[in-house]
Formats: sequence, structure tokens, C-alpha cells
Amino acid sequence: MEKGKPSSEMALPDVMPSHWIDYTSPAQTVILKPGAIAQMPAAIRAIGLERLLLVCGANTRKSAVYSLVRDALGDLVADSYDQVVEHSGTELVMAGADSARRASIDGLVAVGGGSASDTAKAIAIVLAEGGDISEHASTFIPPDKFYPKELHQPKLPVIAVPTTASAAEVTPGLGIRNDAGRKLLFWDVKLATRLIILDPTANVHVPASLMASTAMNAFAHCAEGLYSRLRNPISEGLALQGIGILNESIPAMVAEPSTVDHRSGVLAGAHISGLVISNARVGIHHAVCHCLGAHGSLSHGTANSIMLPHALRYNREVAAKQLGKLAEAMGVDTRTMAPREAADAGIDAVCRLQERAKVPRRLRDTGLDKALLPEIAEQTMGDRGLFFNPRKTASARQVEQLLEEAW
Ligand SMILES: [Fe+2]
Repeated sequence: MEKGKPSSEMALPDVMPSHWIDYTSPAQTVILKPGAIAQMPAAIRAIGLERLLLVCGANTRKSAVYSLVRDALGDLVADSYDQVVEHSGTELVMAGADSARRASIDGLVAVGGGSASDTAKAIAIVLAEGGDISEHASTFIPPDKFYPKELHQPKLPVIAVPTTASAAEVTPGLGIRNDAGRKLLFWDVKLATRLIILDPTANVHVPASLMASTAMNAFAHCAEGLYSRLRNPISEGLALQGIGILNESIPAMVAEPSTVDHRSGVLAGAHISGLVISNARVGIHHAVCHCLGAHGSLSHGTANSIMLPHALRYNREVAAKQLGKLAEAMGVDTRTMAPREAADAGIDAVCRLQERAKVPRRLRDTGLDKALLPEIAEQTMGDRGLFFNPRKTASARQVEQLLEEAW
């Protein structure tokens, strides 16, 4: 395909037949156990890598987890790029790609939250495809035209040591903020992280409140994956498993932050949530959260924590059966309930989880300027999440109402 040209339109049936599968499995090694960081050198040598660029933010570089990784990798590290900020940015991706070229690397290691992973993947795109990162974003034209950008070049392997529960390291997708405060979205199955290191002992150093809000993001991946237009029997099984694990592990970790077992549960649930969205993708909830982040500067976990019950309510009319399954996975006995009642019970259970996780529940408590809500709603209309959402969104006013409910 000629570079720079939009790819062909992706079309889906309005209602996905429940047993269709359209699924690509990325080859990924995942190690989740206490002390997993110490196993990195052997696992990296097994892939055949020798010159790595560590990608992280300035705060992560001062953290205990970073020191553990740096010490474990020794002379496998060719250089470090520590300019990552929340939601990343097109300029810093290009600067990271320059660092990578100077150091002649053969692989990238992201240490940190979702933005570190997304930045490493974006650097891999620029190194492989050339040009500016913004040229490689996909396009969504509301209400239902989606043009995924096909990227054809092989990518350098990415390795991730996630310090939050964002699950960004699992998916072959990523989001980067541009200068105009818009989130550009990318997708290429060749970007899927080759090696994922989840170390619950090291994770005890990460504040429980940060893990809880990012784990609500993971929970949202599972909840939205359940009703996505691209859902399939594989993603549904994973989503139900992720919901069950996170529903138990998040409150347990908040109550006992130094218990390694609870950290393991949150990291496992988060990983599963990444597998869910790698094949079912996300809907309006994530579309709104991308824009609350890119335009309103809310962290992704905080936006996710607040918006989830509102997004579920928005989809209730068209996704009652799936929301009933959400309720069951959260331990609600729905056997005597009508579908609509079971869906409401699921949404109530999510509200109880918000309380037990002690995460933010109202936009007004975040410092967000209320005057931005119409612009955030307008931007949401351009996010591909609306394409995968089961209920079609006809106007920005509907999104604005959703935001006002969450205010
Ligand atoms: Fe997310």
C-alpha cells in the first residue's frame, strides 16, 4: 500500500453473531511471579537481544522498580530515555526515536505505566515506518466509518515491566497526545510486547491508590469487552475471568497494600483485561476517557474509575444480557431477575466496587474545568471506541449528557 494513504474501511455487522471469531494471537511471553525481574536477562537473551533502550518517565527513573530492572539488565542496556509524561506526546516520541537511532538498539524496554509502554511502541513504529508518528494514526469518522491504518514494516521487539494495572503492554494498540490535545490512536499486531514481566514483590513499592485507579481501567476493559461489537467467545471467557479476579483483588489490595498475593491478583486481572481488548477492543467508555485525558489532562485510571457506571448505563438498553453476565461474574445471583434488572444489578455492583476501591467517583472532584465538557464531547465523536460500542452515538450532545451525569 502507498504510504500516507488511508487504509480501507473496516465494516462490522450491527449485531455481532455470538459465535463468530476474528482473532489474532500475538506471540507473547508473560512472567508473573515474585522476583520475575531477576529472570529478565535470560528471557531477553532467549529472544536474541543485546542492545536495549530503557523507556520511562523521570519519576520512574528514581523508583525502586527501575533500579531493580537496571541492575538486572546490566550491559544489555545501551541507553535510557526518561522523558515520558502521562498520555505521552508526539514530540517526545520523535525525540525517543532519535535516541534509539543514536544508540543503535535492537529492542525497547518500557518501565512504568501505560504511557511508558505506549511511548516504546510508538518509537518502534517510527523506527520501522519512518516519517512522523502522527502519519500512522487510524481514523474514525462519526457515526460509523473506521479506517484502521495498516502498518506493514516489521517492528523491533518491545519488552515491558508495567508498574500499574493499565494493561497497555498487552495490546498491539496505543494512544499518543498531539500538540492540539487530541489522542491519536494506533494499532499494529506486530507491536505486541514480546516479553512482559509482572513482579508482584516489586509492585508493593507502587502506591495502592495508583494501582486501584489503574485497575479500574483494567476492570473497564473487561466490562466493555463483554458488550463490544467485536466480542467473541474467547474475549468473553477472558472478560468474565478478569472481572471475577479484579472484583476480589482490588478491594483486598486497598485494604492490605503490602500483601504480595493481592498485588499478584491485580496484575493477573489487568493482564487478562489486556487480552480482552486485544481482540474485543473498547467502546464509548474508553472513547470518553481518552478525551478526558488528552483534552482535560485527567489520568486514564481516574477517568476510567469515574466514568464506568455511567457508560454501562448508556449501553444498558442494547447490552442488558451482557451486563447480566457482568453481574454474575461479580457474584450477584441473577437467576430470578429479568434481563434489565440483572443489568442494573451489575451496574450497582460496579458502584460498590468503586467504593471499596476508594477511587474517585465524580468529575467535579478532579480539578477538571467544567467548561471543557462540550469540547471533550466533541472530540469523543472522533474516537474509534464509538465504532466498537454496541449503541450508536449520533451526536456530541449525547456524550455531553454522559459527562454531565458523571460531573
Ligand atoms: Fe484503558
